[in-house]
Amino acid sequence: MPFYQKRGNIPNKRHIQMKDASDNLYWEELISREGFNSLYSNVYHLNPPTTVEAIGDWAPIQLESQTGPHKNRHIRTGELKSKGDPISARIPLLFNQDTIIHKAHVDQSMDYLYRNGHYDEVLFIHTGKGEFLSNFGQLELKPGDYVVIPRGVIWQIKIVEPMRILVVESSGPVETPDRYRNRFGQLMEHSPYSERDIRTPEWTDPITNADPMTVLVRLQGGFQAYTYTHHPFDLVGWDGYYFPWIFNINDFMPITGKVHLPPPIHQTFQSPGFVICSFVPRLFDYHEAAIPAPYAHSNVDSDEVLYYVEGNFMSRKGMEPESMTIHPMGLPHGPQPGKIEASIGKKETIELAVMIDTFTPLQYADSLTAIDDADYPYSWQEEK
Ligand SMILES: [Fe+2]
Repeated sequence: MPFYQKRGNIPNKRHIQMKDASDNLYWEELISREGFNSLYSNVYHLNPPTTVEAIGDWAPIQLESQTGPHKNRHIRTGELKSKGDPISARIPLLFNQDTIIHKAHVDQSMDYLYRNGHYDEVLFIHTGKGEFLSNFGQLELKPGDYVVIPRGVIWQIKIVEPMRILVVESSGPVETPDRYRNRFGQLMEHSPYSERDIRTPEWTDPITNADPMTVLVRLQGGFQAYTYTHHPFDLVGWDGYYFPWIFNINDFMPITGKVHLPPPIHQTFQSPGFVICSFVPRLFDYHEAAIPAPYAHSNVDSDEVLYYVEGNFMSRKGMEPESMTIHPMGLPHGPQPGKIEASIGKKETIELAVMIDTFTPLQYADSLTAIDDADYPYSWQEEK
């Protein structure tokens, strides 16, 4: 995040000696982006962060792609046979070179630590509650949270209530949109959210036990397990601009207009290969002849993925919570018959949904077959 945070104890200069009461040196680690030219944090460990006790198992990941028909899709992700912890429960749905979108129905806490070495992650907490523990500190998880976890953060989740999570892995950093930031990085007046809405890690005391700890490292080709000699949550302090953070979708202040405004007004995050948008309850357009429902559109450079959270989605029929529609480039899409007419005169919508628009085509994982709504591509036909 482009704002500064400080936790615990840190020396008054970078890269100088910092010692405990017994004259033992603390161990500084720099965690930095784009080489040494972008966001970074300096963290201070009780023990060297580099000591690996054992290199454990390597578990390859093979993303299977179906070559099925090109069509507008509706999948019911609530029907996925997913269970386990926030890592093991993940079932990949869609992927390209920029992102992998998974769904996870989580009924177990993690008894190990996890680090994504090659992707940034956004966890959208649809339902449930938990505690996010990390080397930077702790965050409470609740429904509606977008948990933004830059690669390299070491973390685990303890569940308080079973959770349903939409997981977005990103090959590039996930950021607040450029156009909402001033030249100093501060979110501007016209941004639909501000720094006050962003939750940052609460400080927790370092873990000092000498028990070896398993860290599962996610890489492009698979998972590598490591046993660390010292628990990675042994920081006495850190400062900088690089840390996990949370923005809750219910804190998104919608931008509304006199006539229908396009999806960029809903944009919440940017990444080099996709955007994430939030559709939240809002008043409809106020021109006397306004049509609140969107027009049919061919968004020719994007695959549009829409995940339905709750409410009554005004432009679609047959949707339920955890439904996901996929409208690929190559086809137009728009409201189904009757939806445009039905929207006229309506004053507000209570829909809540998350949209991911990618800039290159998505491939479909085999998991889609069992949850595919075969009738959806024909749902624009007039009723006979
Ligand atoms: Fe669309």
